[in-house]
Amino acid sequence: MPIPRKIIIDTDPGQDDAVAILLALGSPELDILGITAVAGNVPLKLTEKNARKICELAGRPETKVFSGAIRPLIRELVTAEEVHGKTGLNGPELPEPKMKLQEQHAVDYLVETLMREEAGSITLCPLGPLTNIALAMIREPKIAPRIKEIVLMGGGFFEGGNVTPSAEFNIYVDPHAADVVFRSGVPIVMMPLDVTHKALTTTKRIDAFRKLGTKVGIATAQMLEFFERYDEGKYGTDGGPLHDPCVIAYLLKPDLFQGRHCNVTVETASELTMGMTVVDWWGVTKREKNATVMRDIDHDGFFALLVERLGRL
Ligand code: BDR
Ligand code: CA
Repeated sequence: MPIPRKIIIDTDPGQDDAVAILLALGSPELDILGITAVAGNVPLKLTEKNARKICELAGRPETKVFSGAIRPLIRELVTAEEVHGKTGLNGPELPEPKMKLQEQHAVDYLVETLMREEAGSITLCPLGPLTNIALAMIREPKIAPRIKEIVLMGGGFFEGGNVTPSAEFNIYVDPHAADVVFRSGVPIVMMPLDVTHKALTTTKRIDAFRKLGTKVGIATAQMLEFFERYDEGKYGTDGGPLHDPCVIAYLLKPDLFQGRHCNVTVETASELTMGMTVVDWWGVTKREKNATVMRDIDHDGFFALLVERLGRL
């Protein structure tokens, strides 16, 4: 078996973040060096606790979880309890975690680990606002060329936004951090709403998780049932978009996704379109290509992968 790929997951769980973490924990191709929590879907105190709850649910309490930025770089924190519930992980009854939070700050951990490990060996997987990643890049500019790749969930273009008509939540919450990351020169793969809105948690797909009959399978079904109710009302679909696991699925099976390498610039000036990811899909500017923007997904293959991997936990 090839050497597992080293990743750091930066996250604001969130039920869909939770499923992404479970997918990574269930996949031997990935070596999760650490999980860094950021404020986003709910405040930081809850996101770091939720990350630990998920590691314990998966039977992996040795996973290192770090707490990071409590608020975005410049703007006030915007949260999304209407989607994720008061705790961020509403749905199942998960016990209070026993595993301890690491003492080191997430930003220090990111800098230290990227400077210590071999250059080009670590992939960052941001699933929430990009505050921790931007802070690490500002704190130690030498880390950027050492990052192998950033595969992130964020943005939207053809599909528009989900929190304003033009902005997706993760980018909207900290557009200035996103701007730092998209200008960093690190190769980026972006999973925007254009992809995730095609990955719907239909009744049949949720049943497949429940039928695993395991603690993880049942909790996943309960999380997704809670999570989808808001988006079903909003979009009128059977099921809601399962955003964040697309990032981990890409690392495991990149062929599930199709996209195009182009320039992405983040709007940080206009309040009307704040946090919009302006994608130069047609190459109409001379701006340098900085991201592979995904647009299509084999959604059946994606859910089959999820069920198989969560079934291993
Ligand atoms: C993103 O926002 C959060 O609510 C989800 O966890 C996902 O990361 C989707 O816009
Ligand atoms: Ca998230």
